[in-house]
Amino acid sequence: MPEQSGNEREKLEALLEETRIYPPSKEFTDQANWKDATLYDRARKDLEVFWAGEAETLDWIKRWDKVLEWKAPWAKWFVGGKLNVTANCVDRHAASWRRNKAALIWEGEPGDSRVLTYAMLQREVNRCANALKSLGVKKGDRVAIYMGMTPELPIALLACAKIGAPHSVVFGGFSAESLRERINDGQAKVLITADGAWRRGNVVPLKASADEAVAGSPSIESVLVLQRIGSRAACPMQPGRDVWWHELVDRASTSCDAEPMDAEDILYILYTSGTTGKPKGVVHTSAGYLVGVSTTHRAIFDLKDSDVYWCTADIGWVTGHSYIVYGPLANGATSLIYEGSPDYPHRGRFWELVSKYGVNILYTAPTAIRTFMRWGAEWPEKFDLSSLRVLGTVGEPINPEAWVWYHRHVGRGRCPVVDTWWQTETGMIMISPLPGLTATKPGSATRPFPGIQAEVLDDKGQPVGPGGGGYLVLSQPWPAMFRTIYGDPDRYQRQYWSRYPGKYLTGDGAKVDQDGYFWLLGRVDDVMNVSGHRISTFEVESALVDHPSVAEAAVIGKTHEIKGQGIAGFVTLKEGVKASDGLKDELREHVARKIGALARPDDIFFTSELPKTRSAKIMRRLLRDIAEGRVLGDTTTLADPGVVSRLKQQYEQEGLAE
Ligand code: PRX
Repeated sequence: MPEQSGNEREKLEALLEETRIYPPSKEFTDQANWKDATLYDRARKDLEVFWAGEAETLDWIKRWDKVLEWKAPWAKWFVGGKLNVTANCVDRHAASWRRNKAALIWEGEPGDSRVLTYAMLQREVNRCANALKSLGVKKGDRVAIYMGMTPELPIALLACAKIGAPHSVVFGGFSAESLRERINDGQAKVLITADGAWRRGNVVPLKASADEAVAGSPSIESVLVLQRIGSRAACPMQPGRDVWWHELVDRASTSCDAEPMDAEDILYILYTSGTTGKPKGVVHTSAGYLVGVSTTHRAIFDLKDSDVYWCTADIGWVTGHSYIVYGPLANGATSLIYEGSPDYPHRGRFWELVSKYGVNILYTAPTAIRTFMRWGAEWPEKFDLSSLRVLGTVGEPINPEAWVWYHRHVGRGRCPVVDTWWQTETGMIMISPLPGLTATKPGSATRPFPGIQAEVLDDKGQPVGPGGGGYLVLSQPWPAMFRTIYGDPDRYQRQYWSRYPGKYLTGDGAKVDQDGYFWLLGRVDDVMNVSGHRISTFEVESALVDHPSVAEAAVIGKTHEIKGQGIAGFVTLKEGVKASDGLKDELREHVARKIGALARPDDIFFTSELPKTRSAKIMRRLLRDIAEGRVLGDTTTLADPGVVSRLKQQYEQEGLAE
């Protein structure tokens, strides 16, 4: 594989030496939702029959005529079918015995909490849907959402889906500029936001950023503002444009008919980083997406009606869309939403919540698990975690030590761990154990879900045999697959489907072992994965060169013990600008202001030159070798090999290499 550094090879070799195997216990298998191993074969033999069987679990306004229409790379699932996603996630449960079952349990940061049953959720969603209608939102209009983790966030998503308005959620940690870029790309008509959000006792001023964004977003006609903070957040309202949630939504009618949606109508757009500076609007449609996320949620987490399920992600990311909102609610689950941080007010907060609510299924990220490991096993040990049944992880490769720690100290050796691999684009989990069927190996996401065909290919498109590294591709369509990049179908085709025609290029490297288990190796493109968040090197470089002192910048993801990757920027300054620690801090803040705090570089390193090939391409691979303190790889293609050895020496002198 290109750009595979020595360190990655070492990590991989260590992974493949992993011999620990954790078969499911008989007790777990006996009660598991999915325990029939022939499922894989059946799904392979008849993909359409398999997915049609799962689609039967939803309520349809009109049944589909055809399961799949596939003219690579264009897919249509459940062609001719009509349904409404919110009717499936809320209304049908509110009309059933689940009426008074908790749909959402919310734990707010300063001690607030709230439980919404399916009947209560239905009323709130309908109110919000009617409020949006009163602001002129019609089927097909886009609604941008920029909020913290309060119940009104899933309510807003479901309200949009109820009236057929595609939502575009922007994570509350993104900057005003990132928000504006996303609003403008999607041409949203309404923005839903809040006066602020709580973060470790501090206020994140969401409305101030929203105002800054909307100043450059002419498509926005109205801004609907939730009052979350009150007097501690300055929140000037612009007459004629801004309206308070409690004045509009709380007074709206609690009944609202669900808009009949075509199976292929857009449910949402969600922006993610690619290899260029411009984020991509990943488009998900209605029926196939809901079939995909509800099926995987039921099967992989072994969901039971009596469970309390907690996914710790933010709804601003795809994990929250698929596995806090749509999958769990379609399945009639009780889902916990947490506004706060894992360490506020203390480091046992997650475990306190598990015991407070009797959480049965916990889905979190390797970064969080590595952080908990560092804080020590005494934190989970202080709390009663006996309710836990299944543990999940997502977002980045999990190192075997973290996997084993999670299994031992959180699951107390009883709970299967499901390491789930997927992406914003795939919409649903693609590679994962089935907890009643799969013997797990720490560090491996194990096998593709039934009906999913994954392969590891070399540069020429040939399958790589057991143990060899290559590009992970998906060779068959799946119902929750994204359908296009919003407004840019060429980019969809070019970036994902052109390298191996008819096959989806994931951008990840992987290996398959003798048992057919997949081991994910991280991105093979210029996308970094920082604490499970996707950030392109190019975006951070653009933010750096936007600073008046910077002439040129090259950014790399550098192995980081907790975050998976940290961000390192190599910067050349303009003539006459003096390098200083103060300037480093200023550049780091500049990036945080431009993109969001999640993109703030860990290290900035000033250099007079960057290593470039004769065709002026910056060699990031060599910068990674320098940053991680390794022997330099091949330097023969460099225009001036001296640059890199000088750089390495200087870097080591400054004590930045690990
Ligand atoms: O590199 C893979 C990594 O996260 C990327 C997708 O990021 P995003 O679209 O933000 O979605 C994250 C949540 C689904 C992938 O290309 N990734 C995700 N899950 C895993 C993973 N890498 C290894 N193991 C995983 N379980």
